[in-house]
Amino acid sequence: MSGLRTVLATIQKAHPEAFCRVDDLDTDSPDPSAEDLAQLAGQVAEQLPDQVHCAGIGLRCAQSPGGLSGQPGPDEGGELAGQVALVTGAASGLGLGIARGLHAAGACVVFTDVDREGLRSVAASIDDPLRALTQEMNVTDEASVAAAFDAALRHFGRLDILVCAAGIAPPYELVDFPVDRFRLALEINLTGYFLCAREAARIMRAQGHGGSMVMLSSKSGLEPSKANSAYNATKAGELHLARGWALELGVDGIRVNCIAPGNVFEGSKIWNPDYIRKAAEKKGIAPDEVIPYYNNLTALKAEIKPQDIADAAVFLCSRRARRITGQVLAVDGGQVWVR
Ligand SMILES: NC(=O)c1ccc[n+]([C@@H]2O[C@H](COP(=O)([O-])OP(=O)(O)OC[C@H]3O[C@@H](n4cnc5c(N)ncnc54)[C@H](O)[C@@H]3O)[C@@H](O)[C@H]2O)c1
Repeated sequence: MSGLRTVLATIQKAHPEAFCRVDDLDTDSPDPSAEDLAQLAGQVAEQLPDQVHCAGIGLRCAQSPGGLSGQPGPDEGGELAGQVALVTGAASGLGLGIARGLHAAGACVVFTDVDREGLRSVAASIDDPLRALTQEMNVTDEASVAAAFDAALRHFGRLDILVCAAGIAPPYELVDFPVDRFRLALEINLTGYFLCAREAARIMRAQGHGGSMVMLSSKSGLEPSKANSAYNATKAGELHLARGWALELGVDGIRVNCIAPGNVFEGSKIWNPDYIRKAAEKKGIAPDEVIPYYNNLTALKAEIKPQDIADAAVFLCSRRARRITGQVLAVDGGQVWVR
């Protein structure tokens, strides 16, 4: 673990409510020695200082994100106030919807995505920038993932929530499936979830006060859909990754759950015009009949919106779900019956 992470974990252990922001980080400085860390532990033992200096690292500390900037935010309340969340795939669709939902529930949110332009327009639309950070990250690239989590730590000093939503769904019949598209789906939907969960687990374990992870799977992870085999397999794989991680991380108070959304069209780049055309061909209907067709497959005969998925994510990350781990919450209006 880097020197910064060790220093932050030492502060978090003494003050689980603390937020920190890096003012100075001497990249050439060696990792803090045992003596440096013992001195730091002594310095923060009684109360949280406004400033901390340890082995070339200078930090501002506060009890709230607003306090870091010397201006308590307009609204630091909310069910997830005091928590920091990192969301992948947050420039579009469900990732963006969930990130906004966590932010509205009071969390500080790091919006990450590989899409730089998308992140730019997200940044311009955030109403409370004190509690938000946008950060480019490619979930398939180990160094990019580590750098993005470090950026989150430099800005907020802690991590409590991870939501993995960056995903793709290449729509091919088995006989036509290009292997590079198949492999890319494995890389983004499985390796990407693994790299982010691993990074989050390392940080949360070192902090010592638990955490919550939500893996966005799909109803296709429970019941396969046609011409979608890479998606079916990776979305099913995510469920079992999460169950295994829930088993491993429970002892640290880290909960890992999945959401399995039904079809969500609003804001989704997966449901682009080409994908809708292919879905229409598959069902033998016109493209403009696709959304009503899928809505009609649900028991509720209702369209599922990003807000519905965001509400489920906020619940799973909240104290109300404190005894829930290793579970799959299907938010599909009642479309598949295998959980
Ligand atoms: N829309 C649906 O109907 C639906 C249903 C069930 C589950 N889901 C799941 O929701 C998630 C998001 O789907 P969506 O429909 O919102 O799609 P979307 O394409 O609108 O959003 C996906 C985001 O992931 C980002 N991304 C892609 N590759 C990346 C990479 N290598 N690193 C970082 N970011 C990357 C994209 O830039 C994009 O912003 C996926 O995991 C998908 O499986 C979607």
